[in-house]
Amino acid sequence: MRLPVESISYLKSSPHSLSRRVPSLRITRRFNSPLLFALVLLAPIALREGFSSPIAPGAQGPTVARNGMVATSNDHATLAALQTLQRGGNAIDAMAVAQFVLNVAEPYASGIGGGCFIMLYDASEGQVIAIDGREEAPADYHPEIFLDDTGEPVPFRQRITGGKPVGVPGTLAAMAYALEHHGTMSMAQTLQPAIDLAERGFPVDTHFAAGLRDHADRLRSFPASKELFFDKTGNPLQQGDLFQNPDLAETFRSIAAKGPDTFYAGEIGNDLVQATRNAPVAPGSMTADDLAGYRAVRRKPVTSTYRGYRLHGMNMPTSGPTSIMMMLNLLEAYDLPRLEHNEVRTLHALADAQNIVFADRNAYMADADFADVPLDTLLSTPYTRIRRKLLAPLEAAPTPVQPGFPNDVKGGNPSTKHPKNESTTHFCIVDKERNVVSITTTIEQHFGAGIVVPNRGFLLNNELTDFAAQPYDDAGNLVPNAPEGGKQLRRTALGDTSKTRGGKRPRSSMSPLLIMKDEAPYLAVGSPGGSRIIGITLNVILNHLDFEMNIQQAVNAPRLVARNGPVELEPRLYRETATRTGLQARGFDVKKAGPFGAAQAIRIAPDGRIYGAADPRRRGVALGY
Ligand code: DON
Repeated sequence: MRLPVESISYLKSSPHSLSRRVPSLRITRRFNSPLLFALVLLAPIALREGFSSPIAPGAQGPTVARNGMVATSNDHATLAALQTLQRGGNAIDAMAVAQFVLNVAEPYASGIGGGCFIMLYDASEGQVIAIDGREEAPADYHPEIFLDDTGEPVPFRQRITGGKPVGVPGTLAAMAYALEHHGTMSMAQTLQPAIDLAERGFPVDTHFAAGLRDHADRLRSFPASKELFFDKTGNPLQQGDLFQNPDLAETFRSIAAKGPDTFYAGEIGNDLVQATRNAPVAPGSMTADDLAGYRAVRRKPVTSTYRGYRLHGMNMPTSGPTSIMMMLNLLEAYDLPRLEHNEVRTLHALADAQNIVFADRNAYMADADFADVPLDTLLSTPYTRIRRKLLAPLEAAPTPVQPGFPNDVKGGNPSTKHPKNESTTHFCIVDKERNVVSITTTIEQHFGAGIVVPNRGFLLNNELTDFAAQPYDDAGNLVPNAPEGGKQLRRTALGDTSKTRGGKRPRSSMSPLLIMKDEAPYLAVGSPGGSRIIGITLNVILNHLDFEMNIQQAVNAPRLVARNGPVELEPRLYRETATRTGLQARGFDVKKAGPFGAAQAIRIAPDGRIYGAADPRRRGVALGY
């Protein structure tokens, strides 16, 4: 039987006993649950990094600790991961714990029915590792999958639901790969906190309840989804209702006992395939072979520098880190630290850099195992020089900016349309040995494809809608990010996996990043937010590196995002009239939008302190010890 990743022994014996008592906690943070509140009252208060001026509601100073730090969007996940670190697990063990708990606590945002990108720093190897757990297309996918009979793309709200947009899930394989190669605990051990939470349950919060209301119509079509998320009267669960998921507890128990094989080539996989093929809405074509053939892939990280820092990010199929690096390359033309944060000149530079890079991102970036992506040229100094000519100090670069010509790659789709999105999550973890994890994990839309696998308790992704719905350019050529079936050799993989073949993976914007200073890990950062992820993450990086904000302020500060079209300002920034009119006077089409994303970040200071920041835009919690 083939395994989802090369040569894995799933149930390693671990030196850590989960029954050991938790050492006394040193925790501080803003907290959204009575449990955390109680813990904080009982705990000695740790340090907070200083800050000067209030920038946003929510915590102004990051959580500070010396041993370990966890920043996730959810209190259950943060606490479970923190306890894993305190019991001797490393950052990779804690990542798996957080991911499985998030599957229970935020079933609408990420889980084993979806995909993820993991960036990690393995302190013992002194190496940055990039693990691609992105979903991939079934072998018989085809370019016209999202076109209707008249050749027009099926409307977005319609294409996201049902079996067709479901990609072969990668999150479980990525967790297995990371644990096998860099963890210390068995997968069974890392599943236990999630099993406990799924059985115990928790009250539905406002975010969960609002999402259920918004997506009730989609979920209603699938009996297992209705059973999990609706009450006995047929209405979606409401705030305060107890949410339990015994089916997911049983699924996790089965994976703990039998390993991920039971998911990729066993009973759970069989149910998953049937759920997509027999979906009452838009049935899909995934086969047992597609699932059994899935591999988490270790990729060559993309890397670049900015003002003395070295950035490492996930390679294609995500466009996020490469785009951020290209934006920073353009911005190095300015002396940003000499400008004020959010003054018109700064925002102008930020908007132009995003608009210019989005033209190339849309035209050229896609799964590099299938499409020829001119990655090196896009990040090169000569190409950056050419693109910098589009920057004018007093006038907006007119949008849509046309893509450049980094090589002979022709065509592309400089589209400026982007769906609104509220799913996906980013989290960061640092442990005592200074292993670092930066992971973005998703099922794409809020509640993914809407399908809960019957009797298994988890939602399936709709990640394949990240392929271009219109697969042809004006000349009738396939665009690089067109949906395609078949399998290709993994050209951007490292090691043994590069000799394997796999299905096409849709272009992502997810941007898990690790930033190094003097060869040591300095910052882990990322966010959800659809294609806005790129601009959101850029804002946080610049706020911290160039504008001397502490990492919490950098996360809180109101954001400007541009995607080769209007400049979108979060409400707090939009309300500043001089800023808005200043940008308009320079020719920008300024819109109020957001709030955008939910960034989590951890900074590792050379003096040994670790600073964690979670985004107040969702219910993020950073805890350290
Ligand atoms: O891979 C991507 O870029 C998207 N599927 C991520 C979706 C997302 O961030 C939704 N956000 N709030």
